[in-house]
Amino acid sequence: MEICKKLILIGFMGTGKSSVAAGLSEALSMPHLDMDAEIVSSAGLSIPEIFAQQGEQAFRTIETNVLEKLLLAPDQAIIATGGGAVLKPYNCELMLQHGFVVALQASEQVIISRVQQDTGRPLLQGDVAERVRTLMQTRAKAYDFAHMSLDTSALSIPQVVSEIVEAWHIEAARKTSP
Ligand code: S3P
Repeated sequence: MEICKKLILIGFMGTGKSSVAAGLSEALSMPHLDMDAEIVSSAGLSIPEIFAQQGEQAFRTIETNVLEKLLLAPDQAIIATGGGAVLKPYNCELMLQHGFVVALQASEQVIISRVQQDTGRPLLQGDVAERVRTLMQTRAKAYDFAHMSLDTSALSIPQVVSEIVEAWHIEAARKTSP
């Protein structure tokens, strides 16, 4: 018998990972951890500062280190990853090994409207709509490895949470059945 330790949310920026993680945390009485917040606290710098001072490669290295640390911790937890955490195949393998991976999706228009005013995402500086379009094309298949995918465009946070809770319970039952 084996219990599933981590519920891992992946998805492009603006698909709702952090809000859904908070909702899941309440619904499942499990702690939730946000990879971007962990990166900020481990680097002692904001995400725009890391990108500006050390570059994207350095950010990706910290991101992998944080992912390893969170996934190897023994307790059950919900983990909201950053949108680019899926760019390294190693990270994807690690997620599949350590948890139930849920991909949140949203349409280009919805994502653009959700991230339009945000200044904390270095990869979206400049023409936000153009950056979102280009990055979504580059990453078109990057989130496909998840166990489950859910389009959040027309759903409320509680609706997304309840769909994932149901899938998590099915997964938990499957894992613990003899
Ligand atoms: C990134 C997504 C961001 C953050 C960083 C890079 C990406 O996280 O990790 O700005 O490459 O997609 P969110 O998806 O939480 O915005």
